[in-house]
Amino acid sequence: MGIFIVLEGIDGAGKSTQAKMLAKWFENRGYEVVLTKEPTDTAFGKLIRRLVLIGGKEGIIDGARISKEAEALLFAADRAEHVKKLIEPSIKAGKVVISDRYFYSSLAYQWARGLDLDWLINLNAFAPRADLVILLDLPVKESINRINGRSIRSEFDKIVELQKKVRKNYLKLAEKFNEIRIINALAPVEDIHNDITALVEHELFEKAED
Ligand code: TYD
Repeated sequence: MGIFIVLEGIDGAGKSTQAKMLAKWFENRGYEVVLTKEPTDTAFGKLIRRLVLIGGKEGIIDGARISKEAEALLFAADRAEHVKKLIEPSIKAGKVVISDRYFYSSLAYQWARGLDLDWLINLNAFAPRADLVILLDLPVKESINRINGRSIRSEFDKIVELQKKVRKNYLKLAEKFNEIRIINALAPVEDIHNDITALVEHELFEKAED
């Protein structure tokens, strides 16, 4: 069996950079790595970008012209394909799967959008839990600075408000799901990478030897 690692965090936390660095780290150690993301690049993910993420790169604002239930179902449909077609087969083949976002994003974001957490957990029950979830945590002010280039001025307050809720939700989820580990994402990129690999070694390799 392979290893399944997920990176989570608010927009602008540095997930994709760290996912790439972690993938390289595993590859240098001889592992076969599948680096993937949600929303995916399949037709489902494209549908989400068209119907839900109208606000643009900074994420969901209130741009969605569809109901929040339909929004959650679209993310779940994209995920079902992702799990069945890529994640599960890759894990079974003994590969290291690293996903930039997974169902924890649905819990944090769609909960912040006003849906019931238990409803969301049930909706996503088909998705196997990850071996390790790295939550890149940082204050919203910092993340907004990073994504400033891609933000829409008129929606600024709404973005800040949503991201603050999402950050709080992630921290609450970390108490509920014991695979979630919090990493300080304010540090320099290399330091964060070192924190992540130390965590991977401790959680996935040393513990397995006990
Ligand atoms: P993001 O990682 O920014 O994708 P990309 O950079 O490829 O467009 O994700 C897009 C937004 O979707 C982000 O604000 C988080 C949100 N999202 C959810 O609300 N629920 C989910 O289940 C997922 C996977 C993402």
